[in-house]
Amino acid sequence: MNMVHGLFFVAIFILASTKLVMGQPSPTCQTKCGNVSIEFPFGISAGCYYAGHDSFNLTCNKTTNELFFGNMQVINISHSGELRILKSTSFTCYNSKNNTDVLFYTTTLSNFTLSNKNRFTAVGCNTYAFMTTLDGDRNYSTGCLSLCDSTPKENGLCSGEGCCQTSVPKRSKRFRIRSRRFDRETSVSDFNPCFYAFLVEEGRFNFSPSQDLQNLRNVTKFPVVLDWSIGGQTCQQVGNTSICGHNSVCLDSTTRAGYNCKCKDGYDGNPYLPEGCRDIDECTTSTTIHRHNCSDSSTCINTMGHFVCSCPFGFDLNATTNGCMRKLKPENHGWIQIVLGTSVGFFAILLVAICVQQKIKQRKNIELRKHFFEKNGGGMLRQRLSGAGPSNVDVKIFTEESMKKATNGYEESRILGQGGQGTVYKGILPDSSVVAIKKARLGDSSQVEQFINEVLVLSQINHRNVVSLLGCCLETEVPLLVYEFINSGTLHDRLHGSISDSSLTWEHRLRIAVEIAGTLAYLHSSASIPIIHRDVKTANILLDENLTAKVADFGASRLIPMDKEQLTTMVQGTLGYLDPEYYNTGLLNEKSDVYSFGVVLMELLTGQKALCFEKPQQSKHLVNYFASAMKENRLLEVIDGQVLNESNQREIHEAARIAVECTRLMGEERPRMKEVAAQLEALRVTKTKHEWSDQYNEPEVNEHLVGVEMLSAQGDTSSAGYDSIKNVTNLHIEAGR
Ligand SMILES: *[C@@H]1O[C@H](CO)[C@@H](O)[C@H](O)[C@H]1NC(C)=O
Ligand SMILES: *[C@@H]1O[C@H](CO)[C@@H](O)[C@H](O)[C@H]1NC(C)=O
Ligand SMILES: *[C@@H]1O[C@H](CO)[C@@H](O)[C@H](O)[C@H]1NC(C)=O
Ligand SMILES: *[C@@H]1O[C@H](CO)[C@@H](O)[C@H](O)[C@H]1NC(C)=O
Ligand SMILES: *[C@@H]1O[C@H](CO)[C@@H](O)[C@H](O)[C@H]1NC(C)=O
Ligand SMILES: *[C@@H]1O[C@H](CO)[C@@H](O)[C@H](O)[C@H]1NC(C)=O
Ligand SMILES: *[C@@H]1O[C@H](CO)[C@@H](O)[C@H](O)[C@H]1NC(C)=O
Ligand SMILES: *[C@@H]1O[C@H](CO)[C@@H](O)[C@H](O)[C@H]1NC(C)=O
Ligand SMILES: *[C@@H]1O[C@H](CO)[C@@H](O)[C@H](O)[C@H]1NC(C)=O
Ligand SMILES: *[C@@H]1O[C@H](CO)[C@@H](O)[C@H](O)[C@H]1NC(C)=O
Ligand SMILES: *[C@@H]1O[C@H](CO)[C@@H](O)[C@H](O)[C@H]1NC(C)=O
Repeated sequence: MNMVHGLFFVAIFILASTKLVMGQPSPTCQTKCGNVSIEFPFGISAGCYYAGHDSFNLTCNKTTNELFFGNMQVINISHSGELRILKSTSFTCYNSKNNTDVLFYTTTLSNFTLSNKNRFTAVGCNTYAFMTTLDGDRNYSTGCLSLCDSTPKENGLCSGEGCCQTSVPKRSKRFRIRSRRFDRETSVSDFNPCFYAFLVEEGRFNFSPSQDLQNLRNVTKFPVVLDWSIGGQTCQQVGNTSICGHNSVCLDSTTRAGYNCKCKDGYDGNPYLPEGCRDIDECTTSTTIHRHNCSDSSTCINTMGHFVCSCPFGFDLNATTNGCMRKLKPENHGWIQIVLGTSVGFFAILLVAICVQQKIKQRKNIELRKHFFEKNGGGMLRQRLSGAGPSNVDVKIFTEESMKKATNGYEESRILGQGGQGTVYKGILPDSSVVAIKKARLGDSSQVEQFINEVLVLSQINHRNVVSLLGCCLETEVPLLVYEFINSGTLHDRLHGSISDSSLTWEHRLRIAVEIAGTLAYLHSSASIPIIHRDVKTANILLDENLTAKVADFGASRLIPMDKEQLTTMVQGTLGYLDPEYYNTGLLNEKSDVYSFGVVLMELLTGQKALCFEKPQQSKHLVNYFASAMKENRLLEVIDGQVLNESNQREIHEAARIAVECTRLMGEERPRMKEVAAQLEALRVTKTKHEWSDQYNEPEVNEHLVGVEMLSAQGDTSSAGYDSIKNVTNLHIEAGR
């Protein structure tokens, strides 16, 4: 059973995980700013960038959607250790008042360094510019000189006439640029009013004398390449403490100290995250560089990091063409080959036999799983979830957007409750209908399982005393479930909580008990696949405005295949309601629900909690407290004062007896839910009759005869008299068979 569910979850998770963007360590990290992707080790909030150095802390300007490293705009980040920024052109203009036009500025690159892919460039006539690297134990300068007395010819080259370029010292973190005009002929200032000095990535600046000497200010920014790496040690020095993830390799930075990471061949993704490198499926990828070269895609099989071309039986692979060729018939090579051949053949046959046996076993297993999966409605759910199923689908698939809208962005004021399983929000759909939306806690995969389980279970049930599932949403990281909205709180709140009130009379309580019992009986025996709720408690019983009970929270429930009486599961439930036998043996069967129901019935009778820690040891547990009161013949002392009156003592006694039977230690001794429901229903029926005819009549209840669901549906006609009821009942026995 768990295997079946497992299969299903795996499918769901594979679906979900392919959707994830794997650039950042946590899904809460921003992965884009404008059109620049931000990938670890870079990040824009604490916990998202590599903590080794603040340089990796970028900022995203929300208004302009531009990414910044310090005050420099980032335009591209590569895994191989390059960061492209935009840097402004610096310039100074001709000044007639004095003759020392000087340009001067200093730039600091935090812990990143200037790449030698950049060119230091000066534009202007009769200008020289130089750049000094200020870090390290020695200052290092380089520069160039540009001369002209008229506009040079257009040739796109920056060759010393109006424009000069020189390579830059790599590894500089801090540098100063100075530029100066040394000849101040006014004739020059006409066609060259300003001079410029800037860094630019090689090949990204084409000098155009007529435009650029006149006005380069129009182009304000040029791309500049910076080098980055992790830490200051080599791969050998960091050893296995490098941050490079699985299927990636550590490479010493070629441009500076420290190292960079790279996904291994056949893998793709972010090598700086533990699980960042993903296998490339060469058989299906569309990028030509990674694509398989098998002659036919149908023979391609993807493996971790590679692919193989495999030929069908009777064919061989031709290594030069990677195509399949029909096998050649073996030639006769003498007796040695025959002996060798036969022994090899023998072992091959043995091997094949073992393989085949294994395969058959596997297939059987898979078929069994498939069988269970389909039997339990998994296929139907899958169909429903994918939306490809028949059109009578009642589990609607909601989009993430509509869910967000319905809950007003998961607003806090919309929270209806927070339980072990997650948070329940009040949602308003576009057609202004009110729904309850349940959302699992983030990052708890066991809860996701329970969610899917609940969809699986609820899609099997259609009962008016079960809260109905309207739909679900699988687009979000954690699935959301959408239910009908039940507005009057839980039975637990009514009995013990904030909205506890005296309006819950014995008649209400008895009806609620009948409804719950009938629902459980239905789940156990009438639903298309038997279901054990596993977490029956007053907190899971919702009440609507007519105080009709609605059983909720099927997260822990189990579908029981027809041919199995009981299952072994991890013990799950709520203290105080948990069947002691199940707790001890781990064997789950429907009698566990009977026990929990008994406790609920006791709560209805006494108005006390299932487990009360304020009480002395022996009476902490309501079951013990109640049972001992029964034994000592002082039942009426423990009954809730609100329900007790002259006329209902006999019913209360009867209900108490049922409650005690339900909570017997041995599951075998407990009645079945169907019998419980019938007995409680009988109490209700005689009561109605009693009031109507004002005389008392002992009811004759045949424990095995009543179709509970149908009888309770007949509740209204019961005033027609005892005999007619009997007739109705008999009728239903026949209908039920
Ligand atoms: C990251 O940088 C921003 C802006 O420079 C700064 O406000 C923030 O404090 C930095 N974060 C950390 C953890 O240093
Ligand atoms: C974002 O950019 C705008 C326009 O350049 C600027 O006015 C604003 O101050 C910037 N915001 C931050 C947080 O840097
Ligand atoms: C981002 O988009 C703008 C306009 O859409 C484009 O000019 C710019 O080159 C893009 N930047 C990058 C890094 O792709
Ligand atoms: C960043 O640069 C890499 C390598 O130069 C290139 O493949 C990639 O498309 C660039 N990304 C953007 C957004 O420009
Ligand atoms: C020359 O002009 C610049 C800017 O126009 C000014 O900052 C500087 O003080 C001037 N120098 C002299 C010596 O007048
Ligand atoms: C490098 O230049 C700066 C600024 O001119 C100066 O303060 C520093 O002493 C120089 N360093 C060396 C090692 O010469
Ligand atoms: C850009 O250059 C053109 C001439 O090419 C000029 O008319 C315009 O004023 C310049 N714009 C700025 C902002 O300098
Ligand atoms: C800064 O970079 C240098 C190499 O350029 C390296 O030795 C040093 O460890 C780095 N500092 C940090 C804190 O990463
Ligand atoms: C790293 O390697 C050392 C020995 O080479 C080993 O003792 C240590 O457990 C390894 N650490 C990790 C995290 O693998
Ligand atoms: C593989 O195919 C090529 C081209 O069709 C052919 O020339 C070659 O003989 C084949 N190799 C083998 C081992 O059959
Ligand atoms: C197919 O690609 C592999 C490498 O991926 C190469 O070794 C092999 O020679 C190629 N075969 C053909 C037939 O192109």
